[in-house]
Amino acid sequence: MEHTQYSLLQLSDTHLQAAGKRLKTGDSGAQALKSAISKAFRMLPRFDGVILSGDLVDRGAQEEYLELKEGLRDLPADLPVFFCLGNHDASDAFAKVFGPLGASDFNDVSESHYQYSTPLFQCNGQTVRLVVLDTLEPGDDQGHLCPKRLQWLHTTLSRYPKDRILLVMHHLPFLTGSGLFDSMVVEERHALREVLFAFPTVERILCGHFHRSCVTQLGAIPVVVSPSTVHAYPLSYRGRKHEPLVIDEPPGFTIHRFIHDAHNAYWVSHFVQHSP
Ligand SMILES: [Fe+2]
Repeated sequence: MEHTQYSLLQLSDTHLQAAGKRLKTGDSGAQALKSAISKAFRMLPRFDGVILSGDLVDRGAQEEYLELKEGLRDLPADLPVFFCLGNHDASDAFAKVFGPLGASDFNDVSESHYQYSTPLFQCNGQTVRLVVLDTLEPGDDQGHLCPKRLQWLHTTLSRYPKDRILLVMHHLPFLTGSGLFDSMVVEERHALREVLFAFPTVERILCGHFHRSCVTQLGAIPVVVSPSTVHAYPLSYRGRKHEPLVIDEPPGFTIHRFIHDAHNAYWVSHFVQHSP
């Protein structure tokens, strides 16, 4: 009996560059994206949706988003793609290539930020719903959730008291112990916790940003951080003078599968490495 009800592919920190360009590290975001999609579909023949969890491109330029759009043609044309923005993104350039959020058929579209919700599928009479948060603050690598964004989250979660919520955000809402990244986590993470703890419907948070896989929890909510498709960062970093920014470790992506057995239904997250 098939127990998997729904499979999501999470591609994070794809960092696409303009055609023919490479990252400072020498990596190609386009080549890495192609390799990740190819590996994912060798592991599973079919997905129900794809999440791109921020740092879609490297400099927030329109030509980079065009390259991303080209790279995503490797996905089946009817596969839904859910975007989330990161600190390397620029919402205006993104919208010029992928269209404004207001023109989408997502629910609860925010007027001021790239935030929305959408139902994914039904499980035992409940809707499993994706809610995407925007932690991008232009000009700042640190993640932010201003009162407006947090109010939107509260209002949106209040609207669906019976749904099972999968929350996606680029920046981490917790400290990792990494000197490189802990100055760039969500500054208002304590205010976020206050909102989330009022909603037991939130059953998993998916992030990117860290360029490494890791897992923690906010109260009872598991937080799963997907690696970058392009390269991996070290856990501790002493600066460019002392060592290269990326380390000799394969990049990757994450497959989240919703499993339905006789007694329970739950998400299982699988980290996968690939070799661009
Ligand atoms: Fe990134």
